[in-house]
This record gives sequence, C-alpha cells and structure tokens, in this order.
Amino acid sequence: MATSAKSKGSRARTKGARRPVRAAARAVPRPDIHGRQAAIERAKLDWESTADALAELVCLLGGDGELMRTNRVVEDWSLGTVSGVLGKNAHTVLHPGCRNTRCSIAGFLKHALDEIRRGTRRQFELQDSIGARFVHLTVRPMRGRPTTGSERGDARAVLVVTDQSALHRARDELERLNSSLEDRVRARTQALADANRDLRNEIIRREQAEVALRGSRNELVALSEQLIGAQEGERKRIALELHDSVGQSLSAVKYTLERGMELLRQPRLGNPAAVFQLAVRRIQETAESIRSISMNLRPKILDDLGAASAVQWFCRDFAEIYPSMTVATELGVSDGQVPDRLATVVYRSVQELLNNVAKHSDAKHVAVKLAMDESRLFLEVRDNGVGFEKATPESRRHGSGLRNLRERAQMTGGQFSITLAPGRGTLAQLSWPLADVDRAVARVARV
Ligand SMILES: Nc1ncnc2c1ncn2[C@@H]1O[C@H](COP(=O)(O)OP(=O)(O)OP(=O)(O)O)[C@@H](O)[C@H]1O
Ligand SMILES: [Mg+2]
Ligand SMILES: [Zn+2]
Repeated sequence: MATSAKSKGSRARTKGARRPVRAAARAVPRPDIHGRQAAIERAKLDWESTADALAELVCLLGGDGELMRTNRVVEDWSLGTVSGVLGKNAHTVLHPGCRNTRCSIAGFLKHALDEIRRGTRRQFELQDSIGARFVHLTVRPMRGRPTTGSERGDARAVLVVTDQSALHRARDELERLNSSLEDRVRARTQALADANRDLRNEIIRREQAEVALRGSRNELVALSEQLIGAQEGERKRIALELHDSVGQSLSAVKYTLERGMELLRQPRLGNPAAVFQLAVRRIQETAESIRSISMNLRPKILDDLGAASAVQWFCRDFAEIYPSMTVATELGVSDGQVPDRLATVVYRSVQELLNNVAKHSDAKHVAVKLAMDESRLFLEVRDNGVGFEKATPESRRHGSGLRNLRERAQMTGGQFSITLAPGRGTLAQLSWPLADVDRAVARVARV
C-alpha cells in the first residue's frame, strides 16, 4: 500500500523487484539484519502494488476511524492524495464537506468501529452513494490482531469501498428497459383493445344499419302497397262517382232529350220546351258534379292561388262558417316556396284537421301554422278543445280522415303525429323533408 512516505519515483525503481508474496517470503535471508529489513521493505512494496492494482478503495482504519493507509484509488476517485488523506477521519475523506449529523455513512463507520473495539469480529456492510458514485462499504476487523487493548497506532479495521455505479447504472438501465418494454406492451395491448372495441362497434353499427335497411325496405314495400291501394281506392271512388252522378245524370239527360223529341213529334202529348229546360238543368248539374269531382282530385284553388294562399283562404272561409271559434293563421312561407308535389297534401291536411276541430274538439280557438326551415316544411294545427285523448279507440277506428291524412303524408315522404297539446286541446303536426331542388326553388321564390 502506498504510504505518505512513498513517491512515484521510488515505486518506479522498485517495480522490477516485485515478486509473488510467497516467493518474497522464501527469499528472506536469515541471519542478516539488513537483508531482513530489505526483505520486509520488498514485501511491503509488493503488498502496496497489489493493493494499488485493486479497483476497490482499500483503507486501514485506526481506532477513531482515522485513515492509516490507503491505496491509490483515493486519488482515482479524487478524494485527495494518498499522503494528504492519512490521519484524516474516513467519513471526512469519503464525504467531503458533509455536515449531516444523521449521515448514514458516518453512522455506519462509527457503529462498525465501536463494535470492533468492543471485540466483535464480524463484517459490517452498507450500500450508499458518495457523490455520483454508488458504493458498497465493508468494514471488517484486522485479522490476527486483538481488537481490544492493542497499541495506539495499530490499524483496527479494514475498510473496502467498492464502486458499484456501473452495476447500478446497468440495473437502472435494465429497469428502464423493462419498464419501457412494459409501457410498450401496455400501449400495444391498449391499442389492440381499442382496435377490438372499434371493430366491435363497427360490427354493431353495421348490424344496426342492416336492420334499419331491412326495416326501410319493408317500409318501402308497405308504402308501395299502400300507394297502390290508395290509387286503387281513388280509382274506385272516381269510378263510383262517375257512375253514380255523371253516368246517372247523363242517362237522365238522354231520357229527357228523347222525351222532348217525342213531344216535338207529337205536340199534343205535352210541351217539349219544358222538357228541354229540364234537360238543360240536368246538364248544368252534371257539369257541376264533374267540377266537384275534379276539384276533389286537385282543388282548383291551388292552381288559382298557390298552396299558402289556398290555406289562408280556407282558414278565412272556415272562420266565417264557425264564428264561435277564433282562427289564427301563421304562414311563414309564400306560395312559390311550397313544393308543387306537396301543395295538395298540405291543403287536404288543413281541410281535414280543421274539419275535425269543428266536429270533435269543442274548441274556442284554433291556430294553423305553416313554416319551413333549411331541411323541412312544417304544418301544425293546434286547438284548445277537449283534446284528442278523449277520442275512443272506436271513434279512431271508425273515422278515415286521420288515416287518410297519415297515408297521404307517408306517400309524400312526410311524417304525421297527433297528440294532446300542452295545456289542453289537440296538436296535430306534419312535416316533409325538402329536397335540394325544393330548397333552390324556395330560395328563388323568397326573393
Ligand atoms: N281536434 C280534435 N279534437 C278532439 N278529438 C279529435 C280531434 N280530431 C280527431 N279527433 C278524434 O279522433 C277521431 C278520429 O278522427 P278522424 O278524422 O280519423 O275520423 P272522423 O273525423 O271521426 O271521421 P272522418 O274524418 O272519416 O269523417 C275522431 O272521431 C275524434 O274522436
Ligand atoms: Mg275527420
Ligand atoms: Zn456524511
């Protein structure tokens, strides 16, 4: 071990003389005192070189923890010079400038030395850090030397400090890698779970879309059936109407005209002029019937006025017929804004709903509203009468007005609902989606 007395020069000179320990012991010349001295000197040098070659910091400690010898590692670790640290307290050297009264290293050294002084022969260990270095400290009593009662100046204990920073760093790095691996696994698991969930949602969404598609396909089938049924019904009604009114009237006219001709031939049987007058009246009645039939198919007023004005006109007419009721109209659309294909259904709905109010509601007030936004056309009829809930299942089944109205709405792509109005009375609502072309037409009509 290097001592304070040793200089680099003397170590260099003795280098060649270094030998294995046992060989050095054998080489000691026996009787010669100088030779013995030289052999001791050589053995000491060998030991110092060996100690200096260690990677650990090795120190011999005195009874008060003072450094008696140390190897070169003290310099490698920049704790001082080999000669400079001798005599200093081991804690002061290891922990330069430490003022911590509860310092674990100071406590450890004191405890170990106290124990050794008391005769304990075991080894004391501590793991701690000195600056940036992570170290393992071992204190063990000097071998072959009594721990108590030894002379002053004798070393009591050996302190070995092993730098485990590299090991620590490797362990830290391993832990970091481990945790980053765990993070990556966790992230990957999460990503997989997310993908799985998305996939499941997508499957559910598709299933729902499929169900909806099937539903709307069924609805479409039902609607076309309804449409065909409605057309069929309309045809039957027109046929019946033509048969009952026009057909019968024309038969009557034909018969009357034949009778008139007969009277012309045989004037004594009666006055042909009166019979012809009757025929003319019949023809007028027939013309009237035809007008009313065609009026039912598409109310003429729609062509004369446009949908909004026709609704306005109907409401005014209604108010005149039922003076016990006040009728409020709120028309948020102009004639040109109501798509042509919806004009009849709007007008017919107003007719049916107002007639229902008159027939069933006993209301004092009714409000009719026609409005439109970017996507839909709305019609609303609200009364303050007895309320739709009063309608018995029987009466609902019996009447065909609301059923027809609902069918018409559906056939034109709209929706219909009738509910108890908030407060009292009945609220009937219809709405139709507007196509792009409807919106374009509406924009032009507004200007
Ligand atoms: N505004 C209303 N207030 C209260 N009850 C109503 C109102 N509108 C309809 N109802 C009830 O709903 C039932 C069904 O109406 P719906 O228009 O279908 O048939 P109806 O008017 O009785 O006969 P139809 O319209 O075929 O001449 C009515 O009988 C009535 O009981
Ligand atoms: Mg009705
Ligand atoms: Zn300390």
